[in-house]
Amino acid sequence: MKHKESTIRALIDEAERTLCEGPHPERARRDAETLLLHIIRENAHAGHKAWLTYHGIAQNINSAWLVANRYLSTMPIISDNFKTLVMRRRTGEPIQYITGETEFYGLPFRVTPDVLIPRPETEHLVEKVLELAANFAAPRIVDVGTGSGCIAIALAYKLPQASITAIDLSKSALAIARENAKRNGVAMRFLEGDLLVPVTEERFEFIVSNPPYVAEADRESLSVEVREYEPALALFAGDDGLEVYRRLIPATFDALIPGGFVVLEIGYGQSPAVAELLATSGFEEIEFVPDLQRIPRLACARRPI
Ligand SMILES: C[S@@+](CC[C@H](N)C(=O)[O-])C[C@H]1O[C@@H](n2cnc3c(N)ncnc32)[C@H](O)[C@@H]1O
Repeated sequence: MKHKESTIRALIDEAERTLCEGPHPERARRDAETLLLHIIRENAHAGHKAWLTYHGIAQNINSAWLVANRYLSTMPIISDNFKTLVMRRRTGEPIQYITGETEFYGLPFRVTPDVLIPRPETEHLVEKVLELAANFAAPRIVDVGTGSGCIAIALAYKLPQASITAIDLSKSALAIARENAKRNGVAMRFLEGDLLVPVTEERFEFIVSNPPYVAEADRESLSVEVREYEPALALFAGDDGLEVYRRLIPATFDALIPGGFVVLEIGYGQSPAVAELLATSGFEEIEFVPDLQRIPRLACARRPI
């Protein structure tokens, strides 16, 4: 069958109509553009260079390029592959899992369904640790539940003098985190295990974590992207979402040096319970940092000196 040639604009218009029937019509055009750019770049990787070279297409093309070249006819392989990806997105598959890429703290990360997609609000955690770490010459930092490695890698990138350990219960998540560390040119130790068990004998200046904190009861209220595609191990923490904090916070106290800090991401409405857990474990200087929506998003506390 002879393929009909499609222009870039016709492909995006058609994809937008398809994606308007999916779970996020408000992002339909943006998603269509992201997927088309991904496919064009992929084809450059895959060796379909003739068409790309002929049209002077570089790897770093962007949305402005799509607009400027809207009447350009694409290769059939590009339009066929694009339509397949659009159908995946229409069912709710996160765009980051389709492209395998995301950005966190300005750094590139590979993501697969084995890892949580890093969220922009988690960048607040990195910011807070960088602020506190300015008072330590060479801090030892452990990231519990590293997932894609986003927190540990961003910290390693900004604090080359720190020694960083990244722990996760999931072997497949650790494989992605290792790959991301290599890609971003940073070195650290990766350990598989439950919370702080792999470092039982050690002491740290910082323990940081964005642990699972969604209540099982809230499962149905999550978006289809999260509920159906992100790993359950990364999301759920018992009936009230506090199960991991209940084990992690006392263990953290024991693993910190006197004067060391714990910095945790927390979920909506969890600050009173987390404050209580921190206080009963012996922490002082308990502070909550709000996100851009003014929701307390970080719990930060210090082991007394
Ligand atoms: C919410 S995700 C956070 C991932 C990443 N740090 C981020 O901020 O995007 C939680 C991570 O904790 C890991 N995890 C869950 N339970 C754990 C446990 N008991 N011990 C260690 N890691 C655990 C999951 O595999 C997942 O990678």
